[in-house]
Amino acid sequence: MSILLSGGAGYIGSHTAVALLQAGQDVVIADNFCNSSPKVLDRIEAITGKRPALIDADLCDREAADAIFRSHTITGVVHFAGLKAVGESVQKPLLYYRNNLDSALTLLEVMQAHGCRQFVFSSSATVYGDQPAPLHEDSPTGGCSNPYGWTKFMIEQILLSACAADPALSVVLLRYFNPVGAHESGLIGENPNGIPNNLMPYITQVAVGRREKLTIFGNDYPTPDGTGVRDYIHVVDLANGHLAALNYCAAHTGCEIFNLGTGHGVSVLEMVETFESVNHVAVPHVIGPRRAGDLATVYASAEKAERMLGWKAEKTLADMCRDSWNWQSKNPNGY
Ligand code: NAD
Ligand code: UD1
Repeated sequence: MSILLSGGAGYIGSHTAVALLQAGQDVVIADNFCNSSPKVLDRIEAITGKRPALIDADLCDREAADAIFRSHTITGVVHFAGLKAVGESVQKPLLYYRNNLDSALTLLEVMQAHGCRQFVFSSSATVYGDQPAPLHEDSPTGGCSNPYGWTKFMIEQILLSACAADPALSVVLLRYFNPVGAHESGLIGENPNGIPNNLMPYITQVAVGRREKLTIFGNDYPTPDGTGVRDYIHVVDLANGHLAALNYCAAHTGCEIFNLGTGHGVSVLEMVETFESVNHVAVPHVIGPRRAGDLATVYASAEKAERMLGWKAEKTLADMCRDSWNWQSKNPNGY
């Protein structure tokens, strides 16, 4: 009996695989490696002493998805697979809608055919659009500023409808805030293609000398120091949130939504200063214009996950900075 991690070779999936294996679960990873490397399997094995089963498959391919369930007894699915680059989703919206919606629908249909009813979905705080922080699970959603965000919104709607139609289904929607950090071994971490879009990988690539300087996107926001405020969460805490979500799924039916964040906002400048002081490394930076689509302040209410899942983020901002740098400095060019 195994848990299927679709997109399990990626950043969050690989950390979740480690957490599940260390908790004694059997894991099957299905990934087409469009944004990851098969080398991650060796790293997972080096950390845990166990090697998850690997299936090289595009989850939009119905036959390939069905074959996973024929060859393994899957009791629950965590659906990480998806394309996630916000800017690219604006340039290539059809690719994003096709890949993200199709993979989710295909998996759900195949699960239904095989009587598998537990599904945890990687959603995002982006579904809240421009709502005031702290964001609660019942805050309004929609108003996304890009196709990537709309795919998350639409898959949430699909899952709500599927649960309304089938009372035996058990679905958890996890709305991640800003995942950063890496496993403390430095063996697995975030490995973005090309120029990073997100703050932490940009900082680590500047620190390691791959990029000249960080541009801080605006210092005139209505925040304490004028730079954008986000709820950064250590990826190992986030991975543990999936264990709690799977346990919840096993004990409940219906669709439940949880934010996975710390509940605390951190500014861009605070992040840069903490990174420099924890790691004793310089991050040259300049202030530039605001980035289109950015919000001033985004952070979670983390209360519901603690109350209902018994999960809360444990790691500090210093842990996030130290572990991100440990990964980047040991793997300057990724896997
Ligand atoms: P990632 O790109 O590292 O991992 C996604 C994995 O899915 C990759 O290994 C990729 O190869 C695989 N994949 C994509 N399409 C596939 C397909 N059709 N068939 C099989 N495999 C496919 O991304 P991540 O940061 O680990 O994110 C995991 C999930 O969490 C994504 O759905 C993402 O949208 C969501 N999410 C991420 C963040 C973040 O900041 N990292 C924030 C909110 C939500
Ligand atoms: C971005 C996406 C969001 C997605 C999330 C996780 C946008 C508009 N939003 O969120 O949809 O769910 O990533 O993948 O792209 N910053 C800089 N300089 C940089 C990079 C970032 O100053 O080079 C600032 C940003 O302005 C922001 C903060 O750092 O204030 C965090 O940015 P980022 O890591 O990109 O995350 P989000 O913008 O929260």
